[in-house]
Amino acid sequence: MTDQTPTALPADADWWRRAAIYQVYIRSFADGDGDGTGDIAGLRSRLQYLAHLGIDAIWINPWYPSPLADGGYDVSDYRDIHPAYGTLDEAKQLITEAHAVGLRIILDIVPNHTSDQHAWFQQALAASPGSPERDRFIFRDGKGEDGSQPPNDWHAAFGGPTWTRTEDGQWYLHLFAPEQPDLNWDNQEVRAEFESVLRFWFDLGVDGFRIDVAHGMVKDPALPDLGLTEFSVLTGEGQPDHPHWDRDGLHDIFRSWRAIADSYPDPRVFVAEAHVRPHRMPEYLRPDQLHTAFNFDFLKCPLDAGKLREVIDRSITSLAAVGAPATWVLSNHDETRHVTRYGRADTGVQALFRDRPIPTDLALGTRRARAAALLMLSLPGGAYVYQGEELGLYEVEDIPEELLQDPIWERSGHTLRGRDGCRVPLPWTGDTPPFGFSTSVLATPWLPQPKDWKSYTAEANQADRTSMLQLYRSALRLRRTNPNLRGEDFRWLDSPADTLLFERGNGVLCAVNLSAEPILLPAGAGPLLASGPLSEDGGLLPPDTTVLLQRN
Ligand code: NOJ
Repeated sequence: MTDQTPTALPADADWWRRAAIYQVYIRSFADGDGDGTGDIAGLRSRLQYLAHLGIDAIWINPWYPSPLADGGYDVSDYRDIHPAYGTLDEAKQLITEAHAVGLRIILDIVPNHTSDQHAWFQQALAASPGSPERDRFIFRDGKGEDGSQPPNDWHAAFGGPTWTRTEDGQWYLHLFAPEQPDLNWDNQEVRAEFESVLRFWFDLGVDGFRIDVAHGMVKDPALPDLGLTEFSVLTGEGQPDHPHWDRDGLHDIFRSWRAIADSYPDPRVFVAEAHVRPHRMPEYLRPDQLHTAFNFDFLKCPLDAGKLREVIDRSITSLAAVGAPATWVLSNHDETRHVTRYGRADTGVQALFRDRPIPTDLALGTRRARAAALLMLSLPGGAYVYQGEELGLYEVEDIPEELLQDPIWERSGHTLRGRDGCRVPLPWTGDTPPFGFSTSVLATPWLPQPKDWKSYTAEANQADRTSMLQLYRSALRLRRTNPNLRGEDFRWLDSPADTLLFERGNGVLCAVNLSAEPILLPAGAGPLLASGPLSEDGGLLPPDTTVLLQRN
């Protein structure tokens, strides 16, 4: 076990209960070698920016060797770094440097499936049916006299069947793309391997893991038919006793992972990507299992005061029952950026169909995104900021079809454009692409950046006192330094229809106006920070605006 020095990390076993965690989609964050792809060198060069932003930790999307069939969620070696991103030595330096500026590092572990190029899967293909090599994955004979029908009727998350046939006639299961064969978590070798992978990175000083598809790792060994139609695979997530989502057997795995995390002197933490029914979430966050989980109910909630209040209430109270903090998130690398979502008539999450562009008012979306960000950062618990949201970036919806990389595009038969529009490389400086993303001005970013991102660069944001970046910095600073916001106290106060009003600690109020009219601000309190201009006399809160106030 090594502990990293130098370190500016506060000794705080509970840091994760209120952490603001910044998501680094490494391929698109910053390119330090001029090849158009983000990398560790780029990330290291921007650590000061992140420290200055006021976050506590960064979560780095998968950075392991991978054929990138699904943006790195197809891992071919869990103990190394993709050569396009750098080397293991650079990763070690990054960990040390991040700690030295007070930032913790969370990696992404992908335990539901490997890449089809992973040594284990190659060995499984070369081995015979019934072999120990095949038992690490989920191989089955097909149905029908000649076995030419898949073993069951499941559909894969990106479209198409969830089974692919191998040369010798057996089929293997993949809940996602065919390049992502599912592991068999009933196999002890699989369990031991992932425990060893966790230790490998924890020993290097990594502070935690985000667990990909945490709700999908255990399957009903009978693999029963589901009777689903194509594309309903994800909506089937809410079904009780589902054969591959949210099975009780998961909890033993997470208990053993927690014991490993707790065996380190500085706490190592887990955050689950678990799409489960709200009343099931506490099962994952009991004190002997995972620390936190993403709150996708919050991300997916339309900007409607009543609905938001319901989600906020449910999140806080259901998790408090097991002693876990709530978390909040507005965007990530899988969903349409919230500036765009909130600029639409329906502000919930929608799939992006190729031939059905949705009318969007980006000025409105930006105003609402500012209000939502200040709301999120004023709530008790953890918060996730997806790279670029602090710059006010919108979803890029006009990436030429021939440049789309998300497997959803191919696997949906070119009907769904997929998730590339929220993964476009960040604009840092200057007036023309690559906007300082690459060290070389001649580099072509792996996805094209819109020309008008010249007014969205970190540099342009920095120069404008009222920019999105300044709002995030101010809100993050308050969250860290104001004792009322640091605690977990939270209570609703009465407020007009279509608005929210709550108190944090003793005397910090947060008011959110999602109605069409200005509302009176609570008397006896002065503004600490607002997401947009208040009325001239400071007495009214305009529509689509949030304000944090301090009682006099
Ligand atoms: C969830 C990840 O966030 C997503 O990007 C990925 O495609 C799937 N899991 C499969 O690993």
